[in-house]
Amino acid sequence: MTERRVLVLNGPNLGRLGKRQPETYGSTTHAELVAHLISYGQGLGLSVEVRQTDAEAEMIGWLHEAADESIPVVLNPAAWTHSSVAIADAVAQRTADLIEVHISNVHAREEFRRHSYVTPYATGVIAGLGIAGYEAALTAVARR
Ligand code: DQA
Repeated sequence: MTERRVLVLNGPNLGRLGKRQPETYGSTTHAELVAHLISYGQGLGLSVEVRQTDAEAEMIGWLHEAADESIPVVLNPAAWTHSSVAIADAVAQRTADLIEVHISNVHAREEFRRHSYVTPYATGVIAGLGIAGYEAALTAVARR
């Protein structure tokens, strides 16, 4: 049986995981996250592809690709969560599950992080569980 594809899409500054505010985002690097999620996905029968970009247009292109091909998405929109109607509009076009993930607990931080433009269009939201949030999202996708 062919494995189900899932895209894990990470937004701006997440390429700096491991170096970036480790007290908030942990010590796992983005390269380590990629390797871990691929192997975690294999255990769930999923073919996981992890991408990261600091360019909004590139992220919108990936969301269109997922919509056109009905590929489930695990999305950490990072700062675009709180600022981008364009990302929200792209997410609204989804044709498969899309789970919004935040490594940190955005509700326990600055006020501006409490609002997400993406949440109204997401299947579900996970925040504050660190890297385990991505595992939980992949598990949810595998079960649906
Ligand atoms: C984040 C939370 C956002 O507020 C922030 O801008 C990020 C990362 C998280 O994973 O906790 O870049 O999405």
